[in-house]
Amino acid sequence: MMNFNLKRKGKFYRSAAILTVLVCLVMVMAFGLNTTHHVASSTTPRIIKKDSLASVKAFKEVYRVLKSPRCMNCHPSGDIPLQGDDSHLHTMSPKRGVEGKGLFAMKCANCHQPQNAPGVHTPPGNPNWHLPPADMKMVFQGKTPYQLAKQLVNPKQNGNKNMQQLIEHADDGLVLSGWNPGEGRTLPPISHAEFKKAWITWIKTGAYAPKK
Ligand code: HEC
Ligand code: HEC
Repeated sequence: MMNFNLKRKGKFYRSAAILTVLVCLVMVMAFGLNTTHHVASSTTPRIIKKDSLASVKAFKEVYRVLKSPRCMNCHPSGDIPLQGDDSHLHTMSPKRGVEGKGLFAMKCANCHQPQNAPGVHTPPGNPNWHLPPADMKMVFQGKTPYQLAKQLVNPKQNGNKNMQQLIEHADDGLVLSGWNPGEGRTLPPISHAEFKKAWITWIKTGAYAPKK
């Protein structure tokens, strides 16, 4: 009787142990699968409803705005901002500097006031007018849609932003300034509301990058 009981107990513990190992395995696998998913799902799982077609379509609109002079002029590939609808190098070559705020006598805020200056060819204004910092340049110029989409969702390249912070960036003061550019400058190709809608759609459908 004793013997039999012990045996049964042994069996019970063995199957319990096997079950525990199995459960752990499944958990590890599920976790592994989850992290191989797109970045979007690991940071904000609840807001994402994946749809690669809708996502890529929305990004095409986003891309047109990002590459427009009102945005690209502050996201240059070099260390000098760009000017004008033809995105030529900024006259007098103000340099980025470590913080993106210019150097010495050529600090951005020396000329760029909190508001737009009246008249044509005057500096556009914003209290926070500057380039992205030297250690994270957030370059738009010369980037293909594929490259730019990948860069935008990479926290190591986008200023450590998660998906929620990226969404909120649609209403950032410098982004909004693109639609209040000062006299004589063209507006981005779509309205801010349309841009914001495309931006959020792109992110919430999984932030997919176009093939090229
Ligand atoms: C005056 C210069 C300036 C203008 C104009 C500007 N930006 Fe930026 N942008 C910055 C700076 C500086 C940062 C970094 C600060 C930050 O991340 O909050 C930035 C960051 C960003 C980021 C987040 C970083 C990334 O690459 O994911 C996005 C997105 C962005 N800008 C989009 C735009 C769009 C869209 C426009 C035009 C409608 C625009 N910017 C116009 C200066 C500018
Ligand atoms: C010496 C004055 C001066 C300094 C310093 C200066 N700017 Fe400018 N900036 C101007 C003027 C003037 C314009 C308008 C030029 C025009 O429209 O022909 C301008 C235009 C621009 C534009 C073009 C805006 C657009 O939508 O096309 C950008 C971008 C810009 N500046 C960024 C910067 C940044 C970033 C810094 C600091 C690193 C800086 N500027 C420093 C005078 C200055």
